[in-house]
Amino acid sequence: TETYPSVKRDSKFKHLSSEDITFFQSILSQQELLLASDQDNLEFYNEDWMRKYKGQSSLVLRPKTVKKVSQILKYCNDNHIAVVPQGGNTGLVGGSVPVFDEVILSLNYLNQIRDFDPVSGILKCDAGVILENADQFLAEHGYIFPLDLGAKGSCHVGGVVATNAGGLRLLRYGSLHGSVLGLEVVLPNGAIVSSMHALRKDNTGYDLKQLFIGSEGTIGVITGVSILTPPRPNAFNVSFLALENFQAVQNVFVKAKKDLAEVLSAFEFMDSYSQDLTRKHLENINHPFEEEHPFYVLIETSGSNKEHDDAKLEAFLESVIEEGLVVDGVVAQDETEFRNLWQWRELIPESAQANGGVYKYDISLPLKDLYSLVEAANQRLEQLGILGDVPKPVIRAIGYGHVGDGNLHLNVAVREYSKQVEEALEPFIYEFISSKKGSISAEHGLGFQKKNYIGFTKTEPEIRLIKDLKHHYDPNGILNPYKYV
Ligand code: FAD
Ligand code: MLT
Ligand code: ZN
Repeated sequence: TETYPSVKRDSKFKHLSSEDITFFQSILSQQELLLASDQDNLEFYNEDWMRKYKGQSSLVLRPKTVKKVSQILKYCNDNHIAVVPQGGNTGLVGGSVPVFDEVILSLNYLNQIRDFDPVSGILKCDAGVILENADQFLAEHGYIFPLDLGAKGSCHVGGVVATNAGGLRLLRYGSLHGSVLGLEVVLPNGAIVSSMHALRKDNTGYDLKQLFIGSEGTIGVITGVSILTPPRPNAFNVSFLALENFQAVQNVFVKAKKDLAEVLSAFEFMDSYSQDLTRKHLENINHPFEEEHPFYVLIETSGSNKEHDDAKLEAFLESVIEEGLVVDGVVAQDETEFRNLWQWRELIPESAQANGGVYKYDISLPLKDLYSLVEAANQRLEQLGILGDVPKPVIRAIGYGHVGDGNLHLNVAVREYSKQVEEALEPFIYEFISSKKGSISAEHGLGFQKKNYIGFTKTEPEIRLIKDLKHHYDPNGILNPYKYV
C-alpha cells in the first residue's frame, strides 16, 4: 500500500471532536454512521480497489436522503472538516479514499430508482444505485444503461458520472457527457442544485452539469442522475480473434467500422502478455485459443435482428481471414460462450494485480502510436534490470483496452509496490504520452495518482481555470483535498 510521503496534512482542516460526532449522530441513524470503533467496516472505505492507497478516516457517513447530504456538507464547510465523496470505491486513481483523516461521505444508501419513462427511455435515479442494478431495472423495460464496465457489480451510477467513466461500449453509446441529461448536486455550502431534466434539448445558457461530469468529487456531491438510455438490443454476438501484429488490429478496426457498421458495439484489444496473466489467474477455464498469438481482438455486435447480425458478422469474419488480417477466430454459440469470451477481456484488471500489485496507466494516444508505449515500457524495465522472474519486482508490462476509442490500458504487473518501480515508470510514461500529444487519463481520471502530472496534458491557462472553478465552488477546499486540484 502506498503511503503518502509527498503530501502533508493541511492544518487548516479541523480534527474531528466529540461535538462533531454528536452533531452527525443527531441527524443520522446508527446504520448511517460508522465510527473508528467499527474498524473492520471502516477498512473497506479507507482502502482503494488496487490496495494501493489507504487513508485513516475514523468516520464514514452514509446518509439516506439528499437533505442529510446537504446538512453534512454545510456542517463540514462551516467547520472546515475535509470530506471525500465515495461511490462504490472502484476508482483506479486513488481518488475515492481519504489521504489522511477526511470524513468519508458514502452514497451507498442513496440508492433508489426515482423515475423511468418507457417512451423516451429517460431514467432518473439516486447517485448510489449500483450500475448493474440500474441496468437490470432497465432490462425489465427493454432498455440498457449506455455504459458498461467490469466493475458494474459495485460501482455507482453517481460514481461513474463523477469519473466520466468510458467503459466497454463507448464506441456505440458515446460518452456520459452526451447521455447524462441532468444532475442533482449538493455544493460544499449545502445548497442543493437540482437540474434533473428529462429534456434532450435545452440551450438556456451554460450547460452546468457538464462541469460535474468527471469532476471526481472536487466541487460538489452528485446525489441524482437523469440519463437517456437506449433500447436494449435483442441480438448480441461476440467473436474473439487472433492477430499477428498491431497494424492488423488497426486494419481490422477500420474494416469492422465499415462492414459491421451500425451493429458494431465493442472493439477491444488484448496483447499476449495480458492473456498470459489471465490464463494463469483463470486456471480452470480454457482460453479460446490453445496457441499463443501476439494480439487478440474482441468484437461485439448488437442489433435488433439476429439473422441479419449473424450474416454480417460471418461475412466480415470470412473476409478478414481471407485477407490474412486475422489468423484464427471463434464466435460465441450461446449465452454461456458469450459470457466466457467476454471474461477474457473483463478479468484482465483482476488478473493483472493478482500477483501483488499493479501500476495502471490509462492513456489516449493516436491509434498508430497506441501499442508502442507498451513496448517502450517493457524495454525500459528490462534495461533497468527490474523485469523478470523472482526476485525482480516487475512481472511484465501488459497492454489492452478500448482500441476502438484510441484508449490503451498499460498495466505494469508487480510482485509488490515499490518506489523503485514507480520511479522507473514516472515521469517516463507521462513524457512519452506528452511527446505524442496524448492524454495521461483517457477515462479513469486523475485522482491522487496523477495529481502532479496534469501538466503533461493540460496547459497552464487551463490549469488556472480549473483552480478558479474549484475555488468558486469550494472556497474552503473541503471537498476531496490533496487530489488533482
Ligand atoms: P468511486 O471509486 O467511489 O469514486 C470515484 C471518484 O468519484 C472519486 O474521486 C470520488 O470522490 C468521486 N465520487 C464518487 N461518487 C461521487 C458522487 N456521488 N458525487 C461526487 N463525487 C463522487 N473505468 C472506465 O472508465 N472504464 C472501464 O472499463 C472501467 N473498468 C473497470 C473495471 C474494474 C474491475 C474496476 C475495478 C474499475 C474499472 N473502471 C473503469 C474504473 C472506474 O473509474 C470506476 O469503476 C467507476 O467510474 C467509479 O465508480 P465508483 O462508484 O466506484 O466511484
Ligand atoms: C478496463 O477497461 O478494464 C478498465 O478501465 C480497468 C482497467 O484499466 O484495468
Ligand atoms: Zn477501461
